[in-house]
Amino acid sequence: MRKICLLGSTGSVGFQTIEVISQNPDLLKLHSIATYGRNPNTIINQVNKYNPKYVAVYDEQTAKKIAESVKAKVLVGIEGIMQIVEDDEVDLVVSAIVGFIGLKPTLRALEKGKQVALANKESIVVGGKLIQRYIDKIIPVDSEHSAIFQLIQNRNIQDIKEIILTASGGPFWRKKQSQLRNVKIEDALKHPVWKMGHKITIDSATLMNKALEIIEAHFLFSVPPEKIKAIIHPQSYVHSLVVLKDNNVLAHIAKPDMRIPISYALFYPERQENNFSPFSFTDLYNKKLEFYEIPKHFRSIKFAYSVLSLGGVFPTILNAANEVAVDLFIQGKIGFLNIFDIVEDTLSCYGGNNYKDLTVEILEEVNDWARKTAIDLAKKSKIYIN
Ligand SMILES: NC(=O)c1ccc[n+]([C@@H]2O[C@H](COP(=O)([O-])OP(=O)(O)OC[C@H]3O[C@@H](n4cnc5c(N)ncnc54)[C@H](OP(=O)(O)O)[C@@H]3O)[C@@H](O)[C@H]2O)c1
Repeated sequence: MRKICLLGSTGSVGFQTIEVISQNPDLLKLHSIATYGRNPNTIINQVNKYNPKYVAVYDEQTAKKIAESVKAKVLVGIEGIMQIVEDDEVDLVVSAIVGFIGLKPTLRALEKGKQVALANKESIVVGGKLIQRYIDKIIPVDSEHSAIFQLIQNRNIQDIKEIILTASGGPFWRKKQSQLRNVKIEDALKHPVWKMGHKITIDSATLMNKALEIIEAHFLFSVPPEKIKAIIHPQSYVHSLVVLKDNNVLAHIAKPDMRIPISYALFYPERQENNFSPFSFTDLYNKKLEFYEIPKHFRSIKFAYSVLSLGGVFPTILNAANEVAVDLFIQGKIGFLNIFDIVEDTLSCYGGNNYKDLTVEILEEVNDWARKTAIDLAKKSKIYIN
C-alpha cells in the first residue's frame, strides 16, 4: 500500500489524482491533503469520502471551519503543509499546488527522502538548481515531461541530440498579434484540449506554459537549453519527441488525459492497468497529426531561453512577474498582450545580485521583489484599468 500526501487536492490535478487513487484502493491510500482553502465544502467532502489522516489548510479561517466539521487532524498554513509532507508514513508526495508557494513543501519532501510526483512546474522553474540534487526522487507529472521521462529511461544523456516539447497552442496560437489585443478573459480560459486550473490555462494561451516547460525540461533532464525545442501540435496526441544522435526519433503517443501521466507517476517504477482513455490504433485512422512552428509574437518562448542563459535568479523573476500578470489579467486589470510587457519590463528592471549559489531564502526575497515590481510597473503604466 503506497501512502500518498496530495498537495493541491482541490485542483484539477488534485481531483484526477484522487480518481486514480480511488480506482486502486488496494494499492494506494490518500494519507493527507493540502489546499489553500477556497472550497471548504470540497475539502470536507474529500475528508469524509477518502478519510485522510491529516488536512493542511493554508488559510487560517478556513482551517478553523474545517476543524469543526471533520475527524481528520487539521493543520494550518505553510508550516502545516510542511508537516504533512515529511510525515514518516508518507511514501509519495504529489506536488500539485499551483505557483511559487509549491517550492518549499516540494523541497522539504525531497530533503526527507520522499518520492515526489511533480506537477507544480513553478517550483522546478525557480528552484531547479536546488531540486536537481534530488532528481532521482522525482517523477514528472506534466504530460510532456512524463513522455520524455519514459522515452529516455536508461539512455545515455550524451545520446540525446534534441528534446522536442509539443504544445497544443492554446486557444489563440493561430491569431495574429493584432487580434490578440482585445481577447477576453473567458476566451483565454477556453482551452481547446485540456481542462485545467485558471493559471495554467492562461499560461497555455500565452504559451508561457511552454516557456516554463522548457525550463522544467532543462532542470529535470540536465539537457542544455539549445537542445530543447518546442513546437505546436494542436491534437495533443504526441506528448513529446526525443531525437537521438543517430537520428532515430522517439515519440510518445497517448490520448490527452492527465490521469495517464498521473497514474504512471503514482505507480512508478511499476505500471498499473487502467481504463483512462484507452488507445486503439484505429484512433489514428484519418486523424491529422499536425505540427507547426510557434509564432514569434508569443514572446514567452524567447523569455525562457533568455532566463536560462542568464541563470541564477532570473527564472524566479520570470515566474513571479508572470504569476502577477496572469492574476491582473484574470481580474480584468490589464489586457492579454500586457502579460508579455509586464514580464519583459520586470526582467529588465532587475539590478540586484544574480546569485549563483541559490537558497530558498534568496529565491523568496527575489520572488517578493519581482512580484512587487511587476505590480508597481503595471499600476504606473497606461495599461492598468482602474
Ligand atoms: N491541470 C493540469 O492538467 C496540469 C497539467 C500539468 C501540470 N499542471 C501543474 O500542476 C499545478 C496545479 O495545476 P492545476 O491545474 O491543478 O491548478 P488548480 O486547479 O488551480 O489547483 C491548484 C491547487 O493548489 C491549491 N493551492 C493554491 N495555493 C495554495 C496555497 N497557498 N497553499 C496550499 N494549497 C494551495 C489550490 O487550493 P484551493 O482550491 O483552495 O485554491 C488547489 O488545490 C500547476 O503548477 C500546473 O502548472 C497542471
